[in-house]
Amino acid sequence: MAANTAIRIAEARKVYGSGSSAMVALHDVDLEIPTGRFVSIIGPSGCGKSTLLRLIADLETPDAGSVEVLGGSAADACDGKHVGFVPQSPALLPWLNVLHNVTLPHKVNRGASRKRRAGAADARPMPDMEQLLRAVGLDDAMHKLPSELSGGMQQRVAIVRAMGLQPDVLLMDEPFSALDEFTREALQEQLLDLWDDTTATVVFVTHSVSEAVRLSDQVVVMAPRPGRIIDVIDVDLPRPRRWDRFTSDAFHHYENLIRECLQSAWHSPDLPSAA
Ligand SMILES: Nc1ncnc2c1ncn2[C@@H]1O[C@H](COP(=O)(O)OP(=O)(O)OP(=O)(O)O)[C@@H](O)[C@H]1O
Ligand SMILES: [Mg+2]
Repeated sequence: MAANTAIRIAEARKVYGSGSSAMVALHDVDLEIPTGRFVSIIGPSGCGKSTLLRLIADLETPDAGSVEVLGGSAADACDGKHVGFVPQSPALLPWLNVLHNVTLPHKVNRGASRKRRAGAADARPMPDMEQLLRAVGLDDAMHKLPSELSGGMQQRVAIVRAMGLQPDVLLMDEPFSALDEFTREALQEQLLDLWDDTTATVVFVTHSVSEAVRLSDQVVVMAPRPGRIIDVIDVDLPRPRRWDRFTSDAFHHYENLIRECLQSAWHSPDLPSAA
């Protein structure tokens, strides 16, 4: 793997079930993501976006092919706390308040920092988590339990929890989907600001074409039955990407490209390997 490649997935296959009920969630997936890139994954529901993210997060193992993260196995990268994961549902611990939920990853498995590889960033001190919570508008929620929060607030806690680890690889599965438009746009901006300050590689799942164009260096388009990558589109727009740019012809050009690609994903015929 080239030194500047953060994630390398080669001929990955994931099948759920067996026999006549076998379901090919991922078929022959090849993907190489250079260090520091912001890559979005988009595609119809059920095309394997979350499955792909879970392979990188070592929450699933491929049935064939390989997944490398930061030059080693996904398991090693996760054990060393190099990988932050914002799951599709927030997965907060219900008995801990917000502040304790977001500081927990720093407290468990403290020895993990010793496993950080040569060449990777050193273990970093915990950032000011209260400040991060305030930055996403959770000032008044810090001492509340998850059950006292709305779905969007819980999602923001999960985002802060992952970002607080300052991971080398940040995996985000539709992190903003439960948020109102105003909060969503504010968080997109904050995410880009935070990402600007790091060398983190981000893999971001979304159903929003404009969100993908706004955030990404590269957009991976997937199709279902079986889940597979049908195109990878480079978004060659200057950064920082501020609001005035979102009405530009270039922005719309990329939106149209991705929409056309998604159309073909929706209408793509089933492959024999889906059986
Ligand atoms: N644990 C599991 N057991 C069985 N089938 C699963 C499991 N997880 C996912 N699948 C199936 O694999 C396929 C891909 O699921 P996945 O969750 O990766 O899709 P997705 O692209 O993230 O969809 P969405 O946009 O709705 O979140 C789906 O058909 C799903 O039913
Ligand atoms: Mg999903």
